[in-house]
Formats: sequence, C-alpha cells, structure tokens
Amino acid sequence: MISTKSIIFILLLLVIGIYATETVTENTDAVEKVKKHHTKKTLYYTLRKDYRKCASCGGWFLKQVNSGDSKEIYVMALDYDKHTTTINDTNSDQYVVGGTLKKDQFHVSDITRCLPAIAKKDSKLRYYVYHNEKKKDYIVELNTGKKEKVSGVIEQFSTNVSHIHKEWLEAKVKTDSILLGAIGKKKFLEASSVFIRLPDPKKPCKALPLPKCTAGHVPAFSRQVDRCLKFEGCVAEGICTLSIPVCDTNYSLVSFNSKPNGCPKYYCDPSFLVN
Ligand SMILES: *[C@@H]1O[C@H](CO)[C@@H](O)[C@H](O)[C@H]1NC(C)=O
Ligand SMILES: *[C@@H]1O[C@H](CO)[C@@H](O)[C@H](O)[C@H]1NC(C)=O
Ligand SMILES: *[C@@H]1O[C@H](CO)[C@@H](O)[C@H](O)[C@H]1NC(C)=O
Repeated sequence: MISTKSIIFILLLLVIGIYATETVTENTDAVEKVKKHHTKKTLYYTLRKDYRKCASCGGWFLKQVNSGDSKEIYVMALDYDKHTTTINDTNSDQYVVGGTLKKDQFHVSDITRCLPAIAKKDSKLRYYVYHNEKKKDYIVELNTGKKEKVSGVIEQFSTNVSHIHKEWLEAKVKTDSILLGAIGKKKFLEASSVFIRLPDPKKPCKALPLPKCTAGHVPAFSRQVDRCLKFEGCVAEGICTLSIPVCDTNYSLVSFNSKPNGCPKYYCDPSFLVN
C-alpha cells in the first residue's frame, strides 16, 4: 500500500517537474528573442565624428551604450556594406548604431536616429528595444540583453509634437526603434528619446498610379502606418479650410489630397525623413 504521504510527495514531484519544464521553455524562448535583437557580436554605440586635422584623424569615436563606462573606441572609418542610409557627420550625436568592430573599421548593420526634441542629458537613462511576446510587453536592454517585463511604453512625442503621424510613431516604437528611457511609475518604460530605425520606410513606397479623374474630381490618398500613400479613388472636389499647420522645429510639413473632399491632409514628419 502506498501511504497518503508518499502520494502527496509524488504529486509534489510532478508539480515541480511541470513547473521546471515551463521555466526552461520560457527561458529558451526569451534567449531566442534576445538573439534576434543581438545577432552575434552586434553591439550598439553612440558616435561622434573626429574633426581633428591630422594624418591619422578624421575617424569616429564610438561609445558602447549601457556599458557604464565612458571609454571611447576609435575607428578610422564606417563600413556601411549594403546599408542604404549613411550617417550625417554634422549630426552624428543623434544616432545610435549597431554593428561589429573589424580592426580599425566599424561595420554598420543597424542605424537609428532620434526624433527631434530638446535633448535631456541624464546618465540614468538606458537604451532598450521593445518587444511583445504572448501579448505581454517586454523591453530588452541593448548590449547586455537583459530582459524585463513592463506595463507598456510611454513617450511624449505623440502628444507634444504638432501633427506627428501617431499611428506611424506607435508602430515604430513597438517594432522598429531604440528607446532611451527609464522604468517609472507602474512599471511603464518612460522613453525620453525614440530612435527611428533607418531607412524609413523600410522599403521604398510603391509607385502611385497616375489616375485620370473626371472634371471636378481629384485623386485622393490615405497614408499607411509606414508613411506610404495609398490611392483611394477619385473624389468630387469640395471646399477646404485654408489653415495650414505649422510644424515644430526640425519637423517638416507633408500633405496629400484626402477623402472625402480632396482637401489636403497634413502631417509633420521629422525633417531628416523628408529631405
Ligand atoms: C546634414 O545635416 C545638415 C544640418 O542639419 C544639413 O544641412 C545637411 O543637408 C545634411 N546632409 C545630408 C547629406 O543630408
Ligand atoms: C534642430 O536641429 C539642429 C541641427 O540638427 C540642432 O542643432 C537643433 O538643436 C535642433 N533643434 C531642436 C529644437 O530640436
Ligand atoms: C510634453 O508636454 C507635457 C505637458 O504638456 C510636458 O509636461 C512635457 O515636458 C512635454 N514633453 C516634452 C518632451 O516636451
């Protein structure tokens, strides 16, 4: 006869066993996700151009993010390989780049640039990427790979920047950007900077049709979350309000004719994405 005690013991073992497997799968899952953001040896850096004039000058100073030490690495050149975006020397402090060091070169594989705003220098802020796993919000710290569950991400650009394309920004924050911030109240990541992954849109927009609309009609468009326009048909021209929004500094006005009256719809995009 098996005693009640041993049955309880066996049940306990079973429960522990199930729990242990759960934990293991959960962990390997997490490791996989982290790996996606950190392909082998890809590390993230802020950078500044070396403007000294000498034979072995003119390169770049790189500083690893989230590393806690302020030591800079010097490279002679950036190697963009297949990347279609290049870094604007004069604004090099606005980028966070991912890549690998190869001798005296930095091989760039990921380029992000921050949304224009008044920069706040706060050493307590750290660099993260957001990701969603089984409908839960996580952030992964760049370079360390440290993962943490959060309640969500809060940023002030969608409410503070005049006429910013909110749906685009939300999509970027959730899937295609680097966030500089700190975990604040109720475990929300409070992002003070959003670094937009470049190029944006990821792929060039499809060419738009050149529709011939009948008299009194104009082609109308909508804008998708990737900022590409979509043809919505010809619409009867209506009366439009004449007010044109003013964009904040370093944001540029974009407009297109929209439904229902063919009136212009306006957005303010970061100027570095427009020019
Ligand atoms: C780099 O930035 C400067 C200042 O914002 C701008 O005048 C210049 O056109 C930019 N260069 C390129 C190649 O985009
Ligand atoms: C706008 O961009 C310029 C050049 O990149 C920079 O010097 C300036 O501080 C920016 N201003 C604001 C308000 O973001
Ligand atoms: C955004 O606006 C709020 C209130 O209007 C203000 O407290 C906050 O500092 C602003 N944030 C930025 C980044 O300008």
